[in-house]
Amino acid sequence: MVAKAMYAQATNLETDMIETAETRAPAIRVTDLDIEIASDHGSFPVVSEMNLSVAAGETLCIVGESGCGKSMTALSLMQLLPEAARVTAGSIEIDGTDFRKLPRRTVEDWRGEKIAMIFQEPLTALNPVLTVGEQIIEAVRQHRKCSRKAAFARVVEVLKLVQMPDPERRAKQYPHELSGGMRQRAMIALAIACDPKIIVADEPTTALDVTIQAQILGLISELQKRLGTAQILITHDLGVVAEVADKVIVMYAGRRVEEASVYDLFDRPLHPYTRGLLGAMPRAKTVARADGRLTDIPGTVPPLFDLPKGCAFASRCPNASERCRAERPPFEEKAPGHWAACWEHDDAA
Ligand SMILES: Nc1ncnc2c1ncn2[C@@H]1O[C@H](COP(=O)(O)OP(=O)(O)OP(=O)(O)O)[C@@H](O)[C@H]1O
Ligand code: SF4
Ligand SMILES: [Mg+2]
Repeated sequence: MVAKAMYAQATNLETDMIETAETRAPAIRVTDLDIEIASDHGSFPVVSEMNLSVAAGETLCIVGESGCGKSMTALSLMQLLPEAARVTAGSIEIDGTDFRKLPRRTVEDWRGEKIAMIFQEPLTALNPVLTVGEQIIEAVRQHRKCSRKAAFARVVEVLKLVQMPDPERRAKQYPHELSGGMRQRAMIALAIACDPKIIVADEPTTALDVTIQAQILGLISELQKRLGTAQILITHDLGVVAEVADKVIVMYAGRRVEEASVYDLFDRPLHPYTRGLLGAMPRAKTVARADGRLTDIPGTVPPLFDLPKGCAFASRCPNASERCRAERPPFEEKAPGHWAACWEHDDAA
């Protein structure tokens, strides 16, 4: 637990590691992205002013309570938003090109080849009427000119990479014939089959039991290091964040409320919401939670279609002031590389 953060503290490696990540060109850069949903309440923003960038070999974790817009963000990066949702502003740059401005055909080509997604529930991504092997062959042949035989060799290769037992046999099976853990491995194999530069993983293990979860997360992390992909990992599990993240975005009610390197976030959380998630200090207590999930914070997230005028966290924040209720705090760099949206630090200054 918090292995990465604790190791860095002990060895004082933070600065070097952050500089390395920052100097690499981003594989994906999202700028000022807004997403709206059309509903019975009219259209309302579900994600606002989202900015992120991830370099090759880097892992960004996005955390936050249910409904805060993590999956909408993830789906928008793939241009796979549900019908009711749409991006109303911003850009998603992949390899220096705005993915949103590409023709539909190119978008389909880029999915899988440049950016791929690992979903929470493999059955939503796998086709039930095709064998695992056929699905991977289809994906490979969509992107590369190669024979079925060469594509099948790639199937076996990626199934081996995801440590699928008996890969030749599993390739000929249908998704429903596999266990949950094997299905998840098959989906990861499908995602990496065309060597994407960017992987977006949305709660990739929550549907699995705890021991399998650890295996699959270990696998994703190992593959990411080995293949050097840029990874965006959405998770509820702060133990996982501490283990695999280079940097972290904390979202609340559709917005970023804090962003920092994993070391700074665990060491010096600036936003009261992040402190709530971390379960307050001492750290040992936080990391000792048996289920590794976010600490419960009293109160509920206000509905996105009816957000208050000021800080969206004010109704749950122990430090809320009149100013917090009247004005929304801007998302600002409070310390080098450490951003937060909170008046507390201005008021304390
Ligand atoms: N298909 C949809 N149609 C309409 N509204 C949706 C749809 N999917 C999600 N929403 C709404 O969009 C908002 C953001 O949802 P999102 O799925 O991004 O949250 P999340 O942070 O991924 O939550 P969780 O941790 O539960 O997965 C929520 O208020 C949700 O109710
Ligand atoms: S702006 Fe105010 S209400 Fe919002 S998190 Fe900061 S202190 Fe709390
Ligand atoms: Mg989600």
